[in-house]
Amino acid sequence: MQVLVFAFFTLSAVLGLVQAQTAGTTTTTWDCCEPACGYTSNLSPGATGPVKSCNQNNGAASSGAQNACFSSGGDLAFSCSTYQPIIVNGTLSYGFAGHGNTATASCCKCYKFTWTSGAASGKSMIVQAINAGGITDNDFDIYTPGGGVGDYNACTAQYGAPSGGWGRQYGGVSSDAECSQLPSNLQAGCHWRWQWAGGDVNTWQITYNQVNCPSQLTSISGCTPAGI
Ligand SMILES: *[C@@H]1O[C@H](CO)[C@@H](O)[C@H](O)[C@H]1NC(C)=O
Repeated sequence: MQVLVFAFFTLSAVLGLVQAQTAGTTTTTWDCCEPACGYTSNLSPGATGPVKSCNQNNGAASSGAQNACFSSGGDLAFSCSTYQPIIVNGTLSYGFAGHGNTATASCCKCYKFTWTSGAASGKSMIVQAINAGGITDNDFDIYTPGGGVGDYNACTAQYGAPSGGWGRQYGGVSSDAECSQLPSNLQAGCHWRWQWAGGDVNTWQITYNQVNCPSQLTSISGCTPAGI
């Protein structure tokens, strides 16, 4: 009997882990805006932040700087170039993403997802949520330069990008060769999509769950979520 009870709980634990995975999709973004998690009021409960934002030259934004996507004069806050993807090895990358539409639900939490479709099928990312909005609740909008400005564009102000951003407004550049349109300090993160992930990344399917943040990500963002 004890063996049966043990077996039951072991099976439940295994099923529980399987059920903890949620299905979702990936999209791409690089809008140069101050991320939503740059506002203290958007942080998830227990997070210490906000995430860093930068001035036009990727130095620290001055305190009181206004989001460059909603302001044009005075001190402006942009995304930092350090929010580009980081290759760990051939099957794992670290990075930053927008996740879902409710900033206070996701800001600064980390997630691990594994692609189940597309050229990166079987590869994984561990991302920290630094933004939210304009996507579905199970979407990860991966920060990758040339990923598309989406609804708001500060890349023209920060880098002199075309008025609709580099490439498509949603999805950005369409090939590795088009990464040459970007400033040199953003090209590695643009090539990441085409060379490491192996294609467009948009609408590829994933499964994901929340994980503890690698210190490599929290040290870049300056934001640490509550433990899980
Ligand atoms: C990639 O790195 C992760 C984390 O260190 C490790 O678990 C995995 O085995 C590595 N994969 C390869 C192909 O080296």
